[in-house]
Formats: sequence, structure tokens, C-alpha cells
Amino acid sequence: MNNKKDSLYGESEAEFFRKRAKSWDKQDLRKFDLMSNHIGGCKRLVEIGCGWGQFLGLASKQVDEVWGVDESVEMTKGIEDNCPQAKLVICKADNLDLPSDHFDVAVTSQMLHEVKLFGTLDELYKSLSEIRRVLAFGGKYLLLDHLDAGDGNVDVFLPPEKIDLLQEFESKFEYYRAKHSVMAGDIIRIPKRTLQDFLTKDVFLNSAMESMEMNETHNVFTRKETEEYLAAVGMEIEDWIEFMDISHDLSKKDGGFISGKPWMRKFLCVAVKKE
Ligand SMILES: C[S@@+](CC[C@H](N)C(=O)[O-])C[C@H]1O[C@@H](n2cnc3c(N)ncnc32)[C@H](O)[C@@H]1O
Repeated sequence: MNNKKDSLYGESEAEFFRKRAKSWDKQDLRKFDLMSNHIGGCKRLVEIGCGWGQFLGLASKQVDEVWGVDESVEMTKGIEDNCPQAKLVICKADNLDLPSDHFDVAVTSQMLHEVKLFGTLDELYKSLSEIRRVLAFGGKYLLLDHLDAGDGNVDVFLPPEKIDLLQEFESKFEYYRAKHSVMAGDIIRIPKRTLQDFLTKDVFLNSAMESMEMNETHNVFTRKETEEYLAAVGMEIEDWIEFMDISHDLSKKDGGFISGKPWMRKFLCVAVKKE
């Protein structure tokens, strides 16, 4: 699918996203802690898809020079408060208006899946090649994004009002046909991917983000394919951390697993630019 405009986020989407980030809990903020743990000794850092600069603000406590890149001017509103020292560049990841071999660390946090899902494969490779170009030799690329839950079903229980919400989600979700089946009472059988998309996307129902979110999935990367993408552009995985337990999301809906094992739904991949 390629329905990408100049940028994915306009004014209302950006406003919704920024407001929602204010209610992120400790689990949601863990991504920033994990990335912060990997920038020790870094002097120059760039985040591509930096939004309103929440991570850049944290990074600037450890790093001398921080740059933020985003394709959407709307999404970067507030960056001057969150990270006053950030150098902001408005451009797309596949054509970075940045110096070559300059950065010790480049970060994409929940950005690359948007290139993969709304762009073309060529754009994905170009974006990764651009990230490699701006890194110094030995520099690190921190890629944080959504992990594919994989094939298979699980049995879970959900209270009746949450099953109603699931039905609303399934009727609106367009990326693939989402469907659960009832096993008994409030116990349902559901594909792992559908459960992951429901638990992380119900918040967007009836909001400014509904249309965009119903047309993309939060089941995006596997470790194997990520390794292949990075190898193709001359980067090698040094570390791979999976986090965000799906059972935490399920318990927030007063649900629980009956059968099948919980999984992690996000990953941080640390890759290094090779000669
Ligand atoms: C889901 S938000 C993530 C914001 C922040 N990095 C975080 O982790 O909370 C994705 C951001 O990436 C930006 N983005 C998406 N595709 C992009 C591209 N091809 N080039 C540059 N920025 C892009 C969007 O405008 C948006 O600000």
C-alpha cells in the first residue's frame, strides 16, 4: 500500500498524538529508558521521526549535540520546549538533509514501521542507507519499533464491554480481516496479531487518528527480516532487546490469558555501521 501524502500527520493527528503522550505510563516510557541506556559516550545524536522531541530532551542530558529530523512540521510543535538546544531539520528519512559520517548515534523510535507500511520497499532501503550515511564508522543505529506477534491463536477472557469494543475495532480495522470467535461466555479465541492490534489501537477509535490507525498494523518487524534489511545496507546487529509484555496490555482491559503464551510487542535493535 502506498497512500503517503507529504507527511502522515496533519494538525489534528499531531495534536491528538501529543496529548496522548502526556498520559503515557511507566511501561509506555520504558522505550526512552532503554534507548538512553545505549547512548553512553555519544557526542552527536540524531533522531529521525523525532516528533515533539520527548526523547531528544532526555538525550540532551547526556549528549553534546542533538539533532531532530521529522517530515511533519505539525509533529515537531513543542520541540523548542522539550529540547531547546535541538537542531531541527524538516525532511524525509529517505533523503536526509544531514552531513555524512557525522553522528555517533542515530535513532528511529516508532518511525520506521510507517515507512514500511505507508511507503515502498525502495523507500525503506533508501531510508536505512541514509541513516548509515550520516553515521560515523562504528556509529550505532538504535531502531525501536513494533514486533510482529507471529502466526497462531490464543484463548483469552475479556469482560463483555471489552468484547463490544473488540467488535467495534474489528468492524473498522481495514489492514487485514480481524475476527475472533467465542469459545464460551467471555472466553474468546483470537489470532495473536489481532489481539496485539486491538490492545494497542482501541485508543484511536473515534479519534482524529482512527483512519490512519485502522489502515496500518502494529505487527510489523521480525528479527530475521530486520537483520536482512540492515545487512543489505551495511549494518550489523549488536544487540536485540524485546520488551512490552502483551499481558500487561490485556490486564489493563481486565482480561487474561486462558491458553497460549504471552509475548513482547516491541523491540530495540542496536546496529553498528560497518566499513
Ligand atoms: C509514531 S511517531 C513517533 C514519535 C517519537 N519518535 C516517539 O517514539 O514517540 C512517528 C514520527 O515519525 C515521523 N515520520 C514518519 N515517517 C517519516 C519519514 N519518512 N521521514 C521523517 N519522519 C517521518 C512522523 O511525522 C512522526 O513524527
